[in-house]
Amino acid sequence: MNSSPFTFESFLSGSCKAIRSSFLREILDIAGMSGIISFAGGLPNPDLFPVSQIRIALDQVMSDGGKSTLQYSGSQGYLPLREWIAGRYYKRFGIKVAPDNILITNGSQQALDLAGKLFLDPGDCILMEKPSYIGAIQAFSAYDIKMEQISLEHDGISITELKEKCRRCNPKFLYGIPNYQNPSGISYSEGKRLLLAEWLRTKKLPFIEDDPYSEIYFTKTNGIPVSFLLPEQCILTGSFSKMISPGIRTGWMLVPDKLKSYLLKAKQAADLHTNNIVQQLIYRFLVDNDVDMHLDRIRIHYHQQKETMLMLARHFLPQRTRFTNPDGGMFIWATLPDEFDTTELVKYAISEKVIFVPGKTFYVNGEGNHSMRLNFTSSSPDEMEDGMKRLRQAINLYMEHMKVKV
Ligand SMILES: Cc1ncc(COP(=O)(O)O)c(C=O)c1O
Repeated sequence: MNSSPFTFESFLSGSCKAIRSSFLREILDIAGMSGIISFAGGLPNPDLFPVSQIRIALDQVMSDGGKSTLQYSGSQGYLPLREWIAGRYYKRFGIKVAPDNILITNGSQQALDLAGKLFLDPGDCILMEKPSYIGAIQAFSAYDIKMEQISLEHDGISITELKEKCRRCNPKFLYGIPNYQNPSGISYSEGKRLLLAEWLRTKKLPFIEDDPYSEIYFTKTNGIPVSFLLPEQCILTGSFSKMISPGIRTGWMLVPDKLKSYLLKAKQAADLHTNNIVQQLIYRFLVDNDVDMHLDRIRIHYHQQKETMLMLARHFLPQRTRFTNPDGGMFIWATLPDEFDTTELVKYAISEKVIFVPGKTFYVNGEGNHSMRLNFTSSSPDEMEDGMKRLRQAINLYMEHMKVKV
């Protein structure tokens, strides 16, 4: 008789085993420990959550909708909410999109997973920015595929490298974040958006355009989504996580006609539909409040937080460290001199009770060792200063133990 204990190992699917673990989740566990100052997570500032307006909106939804809000609903999502999203695009870019081309999802994270379901077979190749969003790397890795990363220049993805990598790997799609990219904070210039749309058109390559931060700009509004330059080949995703709150777990995807029925089936198979009450709640919040005033509060606050963090980081991090200076979003990307390995440095940082995300996390091939992602939205100026001092102390210890001189 086999006396070894039961294990699921031999029953698990290949794709389940292929899913990358998210270092970020592990780090968030550490970040939650008492006394730790975290520059690691991508958490919006909870002081800016519209708590009382949400409470009022929920009351309203329950008294207006009654039993129907508690019922199953359509897979595509609550029509008034889809109409609001379409109207918002029109207001911002003067582009008309049909509410019928919008699918409400359980956060934009689900949109990425559905895009994977739609296009990917094991062994396929996809292209993405270098560095890229860890949640996308994780979502796509579930399909057991190869990911090729393309360098980001100061004004967006490198078109030269894109052409070269595309020749080599016959990709299924390009995934990118043109506004205030996570993790780098970089945005594509207008010129780069046009060039990219043109190149995608000639290559006939689909583009998954992930856009959760575009409403969180600081000094000027952002450029037109590539998806509006090439609607027949692109999927544009959006999210209420940074505009309202991530706890409501609601996002959307804007899709071409030809993909609609496939995506609806994929959505149905995943979860039938997105939470009905929450969709109605979001709609009520959006129409009963001055959304731009709410967003302006966030923009002004985050802008100040970014300035403070950048100033402190320039002061406390080693000379020759290079920083991005994003005009929106939630992250600064710092690249330390070559002598520093941030995957090692983070261990010293944790011992000093401060934490960041090492750059390597956002690469698929082990690069990014000299970089770190710093979140500026979730700490107060005092915490930032304290955290940067601790980071400096960690750097000093690292230099001493690793015999690094800068
Ligand atoms: C680039 C990017 N895409 C998607 C997401 C997922 O957002 P959501 O909360 O809408 O699922 C995030 C979250 O941080 C993100 O940074």
